[in-house]
Amino acid sequence: MPTRRQLLERWWLLPVGATVATFGYMGYYASRVTFGKVKPGTPEFVAGPAVRVAALSELGEVWAQREFVYDNRACTLIRLPAATQGSLDVSGQHYAAFSRICTHLGCLVNLVRDEEVLAFSFNYRPPGGTPQLGCPCHFSVFDPLKAGEAVFGKARAPLPRVRLLVRGADVWATGIEPAPKLGT
Ligand code: FES
Repeated sequence: MPTRRQLLERWWLLPVGATVATFGYMGYYASRVTFGKVKPGTPEFVAGPAVRVAALSELGEVWAQREFVYDNRACTLIRLPAATQGSLDVSGQHYAAFSRICTHLGCLVNLVRDEEVLAFSFNYRPPGGTPQLGCPCHFSVFDPLKAGEAVFGKARAPLPRVRLLVRGADVWATGIEPAPKLGT
């Protein structure tokens, strides 16, 4: 049993240990959010009811966007300049839809079109300067052209994708990927 004097001589071990543990955890966390991001794979849609989202004519421009709700989840439909995994391709036009619920802690992401806003507010400059889905809570960034991959920030999992189809002149949602566990 150490004496009181021996304990007092070793008191400095407490702050040193706490500092080492804190920096160790910070290093672990930083490497996890930097190198541990999950790539979107082949979509695994869970079928749901068909819900009309928008008329194709409402998406006349590349990067036009319509927000909607599917499976009680806020979602966004975006016309993209190129195809991505899980996108709907119609007559040379490309559309993709994603859940807007950030996979970090569940805030709603928004389409951020301004490259300077992305650089200044999110500390992320996208290759090619393309719009990104950004989370206002802790500034995670998801790339619609990479199938919703979390490309920057604390979020690791991609945004779940929504299955789309065209009926007549409208875009419909018919399924969505399961929501990942938040914070994973
Ligand atoms: Fe979106 Fe934290 S909730 S980054």
